[in-house]
Amino acid sequence: MAESILDKPLNEGSPLSPEALACPHQYNNRLRAEAPVYQCPHSGVYFVSDYETVRAIAKDHETFSNKFGQAMRPMGSEVDPDIAAIQAKGYAPVDTMLTEDPPVHRRYRGMVNQAFTARRVATLQPDIERICHDLIDKMMHNMQSKGQVELVTEYAEPIPLTVIAEQLGVSLDDYELFKTWSDAFVAQLSGMADKEQQLESARLIVDFQHYFAKRLEERRENPRDDIISDIVHAQFEDERPLDMPEMLSILQQLLVAGNETTTNSIAEGVLLWSKYPDQFAKLKANPELVENLVEEVLRLSTPTANMWRVVTRDTEVQGTPIPKGSMLQIRFSSANRDESIYPDPHTFDVERTNAKTQIAFGYGVHMCIGASLARKELNVAFRCLLERLNHVELACDEADLQYPPNVLLRGLAALPVRLS
Ligand code: HEM
Repeated sequence: MAESILDKPLNEGSPLSPEALACPHQYNNRLRAEAPVYQCPHSGVYFVSDYETVRAIAKDHETFSNKFGQAMRPMGSEVDPDIAAIQAKGYAPVDTMLTEDPPVHRRYRGMVNQAFTARRVATLQPDIERICHDLIDKMMHNMQSKGQVELVTEYAEPIPLTVIAEQLGVSLDDYELFKTWSDAFVAQLSGMADKEQQLESARLIVDFQHYFAKRLEERRENPRDDIISDIVHAQFEDERPLDMPEMLSILQQLLVAGNETTTNSIAEGVLLWSKYPDQFAKLKANPELVENLVEEVLRLSTPTANMWRVVTRDTEVQGTPIPKGSMLQIRFSSANRDESIYPDPHTFDVERTNAKTQIAFGYGVHMCIGASLARKELNVAFRCLLERLNHVELACDEADLQYPPNVLLRGLAALPVRLS
């Protein structure tokens, strides 16, 4: 049998290899124990995996820049001519929130914040409840006819996708299209797509741009009470309004950042339910614990497992010199399982007293703009399941569950379960 990456010296494998991505928690345990600031000799990338250092880097946006947009576009820094030809049919990619630094970042953040107010999130609650109950009705129906359901496609995916589709003015008829675009962006981020997949993603992204350019123009004329209208009409201090490539870049971020991540946390929460029924019995007895459940699920799932930074000046982190221009990866999912912060870090404990200190939404100026929306979606998604179900059981071997390899995001491809 081939030797596992976990048994080899660190410098013989790469944290970005499919082998390391297949066992991220054990691999991160090793990084934290042996080299919490580690330079991979193969890629030259620095990996930071302990809680305090990840937070310190996320906070120091002057030394650790988010201008990694170019590095994440297809084929790295040199755009492939075939991909460039497809992109020429759409709007040029621009760096906006996630891939921009202060002070420019402040303008985007100031504008998009206007769409994510506490009022907006509160008014969405009844819609989210309706969506969840409808999906549970359908799942219970499928339980009777098929004896099991696939929780990712039947529950975890449609909740955030429907909420954000409604808010971005996408009609239900275009739901499948919307999901395809979301998947295309995720494929582009994965760092794993081959040339054919990259070409297909580039085509889909151009379709996405034309579709939304039309919706944005409609909302410019006829605003409604939704996120897309707020973005078209956003004003920030005496700055100019957002132009079309900027708005499309922001919508693209909302689509990817808002869907895949929330889906992954819901699915992981249900998997935890099947593994820790006693913890969920506590929740049924005391529904007030749901808020802490959401934090503990976010801690253990950390769907945005890793994020890039570009080093802007020669620096030193925990005694390791890092030259200007280096690529660095902060590992939120490792930080959230750091044993010096979370005793028994891989165990699910719904009463964990410091679950709220988890950093699944990041830290510093880029901290997730959709965090309150995501928390609301998770809260309602779990509350509705707790109200309606007594028992969740995995309908396959745990070893058969798949997490598609992705250097930034992590989540279950499918979750077959039996519900009662
Ligand atoms: C469980 C769900 C979610 C998780 C775990 C998550 C995680 C994150 C993380 C870690 C960051 C910071 C990245 C960095 O430091 O570079 C981030 C930023 C961001 N998130 Fe989320 N997110 C979630 C849900 C959402 C939702 C629902 C939306 C919107 C609909 C959203 C939109 C964004 C955007 C636009 C940014 C960039 C903000 C900026 O750079 O200022 N996210 N998210």
